[in-house]
Formats: sequence, C-alpha cells, structure tokens
Amino acid sequence: MKGGTEAATHGSRFIHHVSRFTFHVLRLTHHVSLITFHESDMGENTFYVTTPIYYVNAKPHIGHAYPTIVADVLTRFHRQRGIDSYFLTGTDEHGINIERAAAARGVPVKEHVDEIVEEFKTAFAPLGLEYDQWIRTTDPIHEAAVAKLWRILDERGHIYKSQYEGWYCGNCNEFKDVDEKTTDPMCPIHERPLERLAEESYFFRLSEFQKPLLEHYEKHPEFLQPDVRRNEVISFVAGGLKDLSISRVSVKWGIPVPGAPDHTMYVWFDALSNYITALGWGSESQAKFERYWPALHLVGKDILRMHAVYWPAFLMGAGIELPRTVYAHGMLLRGGQKMGKTLGNAIDLGVLKRHFTADTIRYFLLREVAFGQDGEVTYEALIDRANSDLADGLGNLASRTLTMVRNYFDGQPPRPARERGDDAEDVENRIAEAKRKFDDEFRQLNFSRALEAAWAGIARIDKFITDNQPWKLAKDPAARAQLEAVLATAYEGLRHVILIVAPFMPVTSREIWKQMGLPDDPLRINPNEAKWGDKLELSKIEHISPAFPKLDKERIMSEISNETAPPASEPPTPENIPAPAPTGATQAVVPASQIITIDDFVKVELRAATVLEAERVPKADKLLRLVVDLGEGQPRQILAGIAEHYSPEDVVGRKIIVVSNLAPRKLRGLESNGMLLAASVGENGRPVLATFGEDVPNGTRLK
Ligand code: MSP
Repeated sequence: MKGGTEAATHGSRFIHHVSRFTFHVLRLTHHVSLITFHESDMGENTFYVTTPIYYVNAKPHIGHAYPTIVADVLTRFHRQRGIDSYFLTGTDEHGINIERAAAARGVPVKEHVDEIVEEFKTAFAPLGLEYDQWIRTTDPIHEAAVAKLWRILDERGHIYKSQYEGWYCGNCNEFKDVDEKTTDPMCPIHERPLERLAEESYFFRLSEFQKPLLEHYEKHPEFLQPDVRRNEVISFVAGGLKDLSISRVSVKWGIPVPGAPDHTMYVWFDALSNYITALGWGSESQAKFERYWPALHLVGKDILRMHAVYWPAFLMGAGIELPRTVYAHGMLLRGGQKMGKTLGNAIDLGVLKRHFTADTIRYFLLREVAFGQDGEVTYEALIDRANSDLADGLGNLASRTLTMVRNYFDGQPPRPARERGDDAEDVENRIAEAKRKFDDEFRQLNFSRALEAAWAGIARIDKFITDNQPWKLAKDPAARAQLEAVLATAYEGLRHVILIVAPFMPVTSREIWKQMGLPDDPLRINPNEAKWGDKLELSKIEHISPAFPKLDKERIMSEISNETAPPASEPPTPENIPAPAPTGATQAVVPASQIITIDDFVKVELRAATVLEAERVPKADKLLRLVVDLGEGQPRQILAGIAEHYSPEDVVGRKIIVVSNLAPRKLRGLESNGMLLAASVGENGRPVLATFGEDVPNGTRLK
C-alpha cells in the first residue's frame, strides 16, 4: 500500500511533474495546471479521472452525462498524448432514498438497482463514453474494501459512538445545519421539508482535521478548483468542523458497520471510497491503485463539501495519499434552475439521442457552458451551435477543402512547399498559436476556451481560402503552383485542427480524417508531436460526405415538442405545457420549479381521519393538540397550527384529511405524527379544514 499521509511527498511530486511536463503552463503565473501526471512506481506517467457515482433513484439525464462526457474527453486527450489513463464512473446504490424508491415500486432493492444501472449504461452508450470501469457500490469487492477503510479509521482512533439528532434530507443523504428556531426547515437544495432523525450513531472525528485540511489547501492550490470554490471551502473549514455522523441505524440498505451490524455506513462514506476501492485498494490486488492513484475528481459544486472536506479527512485519517485535484463544475440550468429529478426539468437523454449525434452533444455541452460555471442549456441553442460551429464551421471547411483537392488534384492532397506567400505562413503560425492556446486552456479545464481557440484556427483557414480564391486560381494553368500552395495550407491546417478537437468529437474526427486520406487514427497521434508539413503517406480523396449535416431547427423542435408532450393523465411538464383546450377552458400553467411527477405525489399518503380529542397547547397561541383516529387501532397525536381560528370544540368529531406518512416532529416538546390538510384562505392564510361531502371510513387513502 502507498503509505503515509504523504502531504510532503505529494507536494514535491507535483512540482516535479509541473517542471517536466507542463512547463508552458508555468508561464501563466496565476493559473495552476490541473493536469499533471502521476508517475507510477515504474517511472511511467499515468492519469486517473473519476466522475461522481450516480444515485440510482432517478433516471439518467443530461446532468449525469455532463461530467461523464468531460471525463471521457480528458481521458482521450491524455491517451492521445501517450499517457496511460484510467477513467472511472459508476453508480451509488445504497441509502434510504434508494430503499424508498424500490419500495414505492414494490420491487426488491437489488432488483431495482440492477435495472436502473442498466438504464444508466444504455443511456450513456450513445454518447461515445469509453470508461474503463463502472463501479457499483453493491460490488462485493467494494463493500469489503470500505469495511477495511472503516476498520483502519477505527483502529487509528478516528471513530467513536454517540447519539445523533438532527434535520436530515433523504435526497442529499445528509444531516443539515438548521437554525434551531426554525420549526419547518426545508432542504435548501431540494426545497423539500427535512426530516427529524434521532439515533445512535458512529462519528468520525472530523473536527480534528480542520488544521491539516487548511494546511493542505494552502500548500496545494491545485487540490481544490476553481479558485472560487476553493475559497468557499476554505472559509467553511476555517469556520470550524463538527464531527461527522457516519452510520445509521434507521437505514437498512447499506454496508454494515464492522462489528456493529445493526448500523449501516453513512452513504457518503461508502460512496466516496469508490474512488480507491475501484482500483483495488484494500483488496488482494492493489496494482491499479499503485499505478493510477491519485485522481482528478470531477464533481458538481453541489457535492463539493463531501469531496473537499470529508473525503480528504477520511484519507488523511487512514494514511492514504489525497486526490490530486477536486474540480467542482457548475450546473446545467433550464429556465434558470438546476436541471434534475427534483424539478423534473431535465433534458432527456433519449430525446437527445434521437435527434443529435454524440459528437454534436459533446461539442455543444463543452462549448456552450463554461466548465466551472452554471449555464443554461436548451434544444434551440444546441441546434444553433450545431449549425453555426459544426455544419457551417468545421464541416464546411472540411468539405470545401476536400472537394477542391479532389476536383483540382485528382484527389491527391498537395503538401506544403517552401514556396508560399506570407499569408500561408501566417496560417501556419496561427494554427500553431491555436494549438498552444488550446493546450493551455484545456490543461486548466477551460474546455470552452480551448474549443474557441480551435475555432479561431478554423476561421483563419476559412478566411485564407476566401482571400485566395482557389476556384479562380484553378482556371489559370499558370497559377498551378499557387493553387497547390493554397490547398496544401488549408489541408494541413485542417489536419492539425482535427487532431486537437478529436478528444471532443471522436467519431466525426475519425470520419473526416479518413476522408482526408490520412493514415492511422487521429486519437493516436500526439498533436504536439505533429509538425507542419510532416511527411505522410496519403491516400487519394475519394468519398466526401458532410460530417455535420445542417439541422432543420423548425422540424426538430416540433418533433421534440411532440415527443415530450405528457400523456393526458399526467400533469404538464415545463417542456410542453399543452395549448388551451378549444372549449375555452384554460390549462393551469405551473412554474417549472413547482411541478412534481406522479411518482412524487404517490409518496404522500393522505388518509381520512376523525378527531377524537382536542386541546390548546399551553404557551402556544396557534397550536391545537389533536388525537385522531386513522383506522389504525391506535389513535395518533397530531399538532395543528389552527388554534387562532378553531376552538377545540369546533374540531372534535370532525372528519379530516391527514398526511399520514410524515416523519414525526417535536413541537413544544410534544410529538406530532402527521399533518392535517387545510386551505389557506386570504392574505392572512386563515385555515379552513379540508373534509368530505359524504362519509368515508377512517384510514381510507386519498389518491
Ligand atoms: N451519488 C452522489 C455522488 C457520490 S460521488 C462519491 C450524487 N449523485 S447524483 O446522481 O445526484 O449526482 C451526480 C452528479 O451529477 C453530481 O456531481 C451532480 O452535480 C451532477 N448533476 C446532476 N444534475 C446536474 C445538472 N443539472 N447539471 C450539472 N451536473 C448535475 O450526488
């Protein structure tokens, strides 16, 4: 095993790599290169990139595809430069939410997770993602290694048992810091009520890692990126760290705590460990761990704290080298809000796949949204970019260049000659500059700017062709040499552009490469080793077909809107709110943030009940304490904020509607086991109790 916390070793190794491999980045004094290579014990350079592992309680959507595409592009970039690389993705399959999602469907949890994992893999397949490993937290090898990590932390004195009570969000799988005065705290991310949980728990002594973490952030600016996120984490940690509850007795679907099988491990402890267990850490065969660790972790900014604070603290505690970099990217937005399951507003991967190629989607996401920042994503913008940058940009440059070579040179590409104009020399220089800029930006994970640099190269070649008018030169036999020089320059420029964009667009790059008559595979040629005018064995250009056909915006938009129209029985989604009915009846227009799916609705159990007893709660003007019959045999106590409008006598004997599966909550020291439904009328929100027009037995479910 690689030993020691290795802060010092890690640091010196980083500097060593910068000096050997990324010297040009050092010129950018205030930038750090995020791509540094790990030198394996065999003295070779390796690169390891991870995506978050995805929860299997939601369908895969574009927000999941995003970091996975980035990881794929990074891996291809490195492999193209001869670096032995490893790309890990996978699924996070434990936790209360997954247990609940399976229960809601009425299927065993393992069956549920197996199905969703397949859904993820199928959804990712058309995006051209060549990951090396798909880890599942239900893999036995992972479960065994996580137990080992736990035991090491325990043996080193970092874990103790105590009692935990707090506000918990089942979607984040996290206890939230809530001002104790708040009576109905909501999850700030999911905008849903938090649950009050109290239970015996094992704790990790996170508080003891405040200083070492701050020291690490300080010493290794590349550890947390971008800077804005790094500063956030530093101020969070500087504000003090509380010990972290890392086990649950209330959750059954999880990895049992070694020696305490009534506890399962906190899902983040389990999930974060995947980055090392996938490489065999803690198993018989650690070769991959030795070879590839430490990693570049790509994570959404919503899960930065777990990666920037908890994860390095666990690793330090266990004496394992820390990740090289945790990079927090921004969110893909729709209508200004994060796309995702909670809001039901995510772009569907199935729809995308039907209308756009993998390369178009990959290019669009990485060009349109600055990595590290939030960015709005729409089908319209995707079509516009595909048409302007790909069809009219790269695609057009390729077809016009190749067509002219075929027509004027019988398909045999001319090579750059010494005799050429200043203009051609300028093209060569500008392409070299584009390549340098591309590399600099890419190494800081500024993919959008890297692509911008490549497109500046494309624009320069385009202008060169337009200025030199080869179609006119072709008519003049005396201008043959000039024509040759012009097309050789355009062709050579195109070759270098294809080489740098290939990791983003592997399919079309290979296609264009082949059409150009070039040998080998652009993804296996290091662009930095490719020189202007290299001697090459070229085949004749024969078949030319447009790599990026123009997209018909109107037709695609109308097809998409038909596909995403909701079935009549389901509420409208923000993608397609139906037109008003011809009768003149108007359709309710619900803001995207408030739309829920039918699956969300069925989670809420509404039942008929009768109020058996009612009394005011001392020193609480608004509260009535009710005892209600929900047909369960045993009456329940419910606290309701209606005392200013209903006296106890008003409500005793009334039929009411109760949310019967709410987690218990304590108000004024009394436990409330449900919530009654009331309309909130007028500006003051006067409660009016909901009831039935006819008699309904207690316990009857409302659907
Ligand atoms: N299972 C945890 C991660 C554990 S990693 C040890 C989790 N899963 S998730 O499925 O909810 O989210 C996975 C990743 O997808 C997160 O990084 C999240 O930021 C990302 N995205 C989900 N929706 C997104 C957008 N709308 N935009 C960009 N990324 C988003 O969290």
